[in-house]
Parts: sequence; C-alpha cells; structure tokens
Amino acid sequence: MKIGILGSGSVGQAIATGLAEHGHEAKIGTRDPSKLKDFLAKAPKGISVGSFSEAAAFGEVIALATNWGGTENALKLAEAKNLDGKVLIDITNPLDFSKGVPGLAVSGANSAGESVQRWVPGAKVVKTLNIVNSNTMIHPQLQEGLPDMFVAGNDAGAKATVAGILKQFGWPEPVDLGHIEHARYLEALAMIWINIAIPTKTWSLAFKLLRK
Ligand SMILES: NC(=O)c1ccc[n+]([C@@H]2O[C@H](COP(=O)([O-])OP(=O)(O)OC[C@H]3O[C@@H](n4cnc5c(N)ncnc54)[C@H](OP(=O)(O)O)[C@@H]3O)[C@@H](O)[C@H]2O)c1
Repeated sequence: MKIGILGSGSVGQAIATGLAEHGHEAKIGTRDPSKLKDFLAKAPKGISVGSFSEAAAFGEVIALATNWGGTENALKLAEAKNLDGKVLIDITNPLDFSKGVPGLAVSGANSAGESVQRWVPGAKVVKTLNIVNSNTMIHPQLQEGLPDMFVAGNDAGAKATVAGILKQFGWPEPVDLGHIEHARYLEALAMIWINIAIPTKTWSLAFKLLRK
C-alpha cells in the first residue's frame, strides 16, 4: 500500500517507519523536505519525502500527524482533490499550551477529529493512535501487556482498513467507538495519558479494555 503522511514530526516518522517495516511505501509531507535529511539517511527502504500536496497525491491512505495549530493549513496545502474518497487516519491532539499546562483547544461538543472531517468532507476520517506516545504506536507491546487501541469514524470500510494497519503494527483488533463524534472521547483520553505521563515522566503508557 502507498501511504501519504501529512506531518514530519516524531509521529510522522514513527508511522512511516512502521509502514516501511511491513513493505508499504510511505511519503512524508512537509513544508521543508530538507529537515528530514538525517532521518531519511537512517530510515528503512520505502520512505520518501515531499510537499504536503505530493504526499497526499501519493497516498492511497493518508495519515494526519500535524501540530494542531497547523492542521487546517496542512490540509489546505495537501489539497482537497488529493484527499477525496481516501481513508484519512487522524492522529492529532488539539493541544493548547497557552495556560502553561496542556489543555484541549477543542472539546465538549466538538473535537479535532470532527473538525478534520468538516475541513475535508470528501475524506473518510478515522481517529486513532492519538492516545499513545509515538514510540508506542508501532510495536505497542508494553512490559505489563498488550494494550488496546480504539477507532472512531463514520465509514465502516475505512475503519476496517485502519484495523488492518494497526494489526500490522502489533495492536490487537481495535475497539470500534462508533462515529467520528466519538473522537471527543479519544482526545479526552489523550489528556488522561498526558496528565499521567508529565508528572511521572513515563510516556510509554497505554490503555487496556478489560471485560468480565
Ligand atoms: N508526539 C507524540 O508522541 C504524539 C502522540 C499522540 C498524538 N500526537 C499528536 O500528533 C500530531 C503530531 O505530533 P508530532 O509530535 O509528531 O509533531 P508536531 O511537532 O506536533 O507537528 C509537526 C508537524 O506539524 C506541521 N505544522 C506545524 N505548523 C504548521 C502550519 N502552520 N502549517 C502546516 N503544517 C504545520 C509541521 O510541518 P512542517 O513539516 O512543514 O514543519 C510538521 O509536519 C500532534 O497533533 C500531536 O498532538 C503526538
């Protein structure tokens, strides 16, 4: 599969690496391809870099891993025509650092996932992976066990495609939370993770759903 990754930070790089490990081709989109020179030199085969538009055009599936403040602009640069009809994996968290401690810039009756779906109505947005650190997104097995991952999105086929990718990364079958509106709860869950991680300085944390 060819996957276009909008975002060149630690998440974009981790996702590209995980995909390349499984024989997929990934193109990372950025406004400044030169900044990935060192990463590319050490990266596995199958990863390339281009503009946001080139990455979006390249991908059969798109992963979105941009800083929240730049997300709408990155999607504009990616161009709606390159995203139309495609599965878009939204990994963003709408973090607001203006008060010193991280909070959510969008919450309550809205979420980043829903905003992204509104900004690119032609894409099939699936919210997932935003509740763990980039290091845990691929090879999620932790010392205390294999955590669960959740998906939220309006399109069942898109969620099945994302489940396939998650399973290749090492996750069990993801828990389906329903429509993209439920991205609200995944973004709130990310705040639980962040609020445990900061004081304990332990970022490799994840959630497990246990049933009786
Ligand atoms: N880091 C984690 O472990 C983690 C875990 C879960 C969720 N997340 C979420 O995943 C997303 C990515 O996180 P990250 O740490 O990998 O990277 P990041 O530093 O939050 O974002 C980097 C990306 O944002 C883009 N960007 C910033 N401002 C922009 C603008 N005005 N217009 C267009 N693009 C802009 C950058 O583009 P350029 O390449 O052009 O500079 C870059 O590709 C965030 O929403 C974060 O909250 C992160």
